[in-house]
Amino acid sequence: MTIEDRVIRSAEATGIVTHRLGPVCGAEMRGVDLAHLDDNAFAVIRQAFVDHQVLVFKDQHLTTEDQVAFGSRFGELLVHHFARIKREGLPELMVLDTNKEQPDPLTDIWHSDETYRPAPPLATVLRSKVLPELGGDTMFASMTAAYDGLSSRMKDHIAGLTAVHGFGRFRNRFLADPSMLPIIHQIELEIPNPSHPVVCVHPESGRKVLFVNWHFTTHINELPEEESRMLLDYLRNRVLQPEYQLRVRWEPNMVVVWDNRSVQHYAPKDYFPDRRSMERVTIAGHPPTPAEPGTPIEIPRVGARTL
Ligand SMILES: [Fe+2]
Repeated sequence: MTIEDRVIRSAEATGIVTHRLGPVCGAEMRGVDLAHLDDNAFAVIRQAFVDHQVLVFKDQHLTTEDQVAFGSRFGELLVHHFARIKREGLPELMVLDTNKEQPDPLTDIWHSDETYRPAPPLATVLRSKVLPELGGDTMFASMTAAYDGLSSRMKDHIAGLTAVHGFGRFRNRFLADPSMLPIIHQIELEIPNPSHPVVCVHPESGRKVLFVNWHFTTHINELPEEESRMLLDYLRNRVLQPEYQLRVRWEPNMVVVWDNRSVQHYAPKDYFPDRRSMERVTIAGHPPTPAEPGTPIEIPRVGARTL
């Protein structure tokens, strides 16, 4: 039995229904309780995660521990360097509590999470705790769609380029806080601004991904400064193309999982002075795979029940 057969049978056996939310990315998974997942149900979710890039789960009554356990099904969890609120005993948990006293979470810049790491995260699991009355959505952009949308001349031009990623915005944000200085120094020693391919290959779907972002990408190694800036501006702004986007409106008790290797996200700060509080766990990934120009890649297609 192939993996595809197994996943389709699992989907039928589990009763999970995959409802697509947009033409380029996004799916809502229905008929599933993330607090009680057997291996078959997780296999369906894991495949949908690659296929649809952003997964939405509504009416999930999870404890923080349930969320950590669900995130751990995807792999080892990361501890965020700059998390301000730590939950005792759960260092992997990141609390994103945005309110009048803490108005600046730096989430309103398009990015993939933590690409300043040599091995950026595989995925992020975000759960709604407190929502504003209006606003507070999360926007996504499919970077496979963004790559596909480039002209063949541009694809040729950027093939083989690499770009530097750094955590400069975080550093600048926290420089005024003396308690953060040892952390900043430690990170500078541990992960000195890695380079990643401008075009990566998604290791599971085989699709090419445009992998530069406004938050962390600083310059392209192989180009003079002016050309680097001009090209990066163009490439990073591909996220603004509405055709590549998905906008998720949060509801109470909702969980969203995104594939950090294939989408970028942006959380508009449009709800102040209301409060928005979310809990996040992040799954460890691998160094991005450079796309070899002209190398055909087998794309495994696996389908759950899709409406
Ligand atoms: Fe983020």
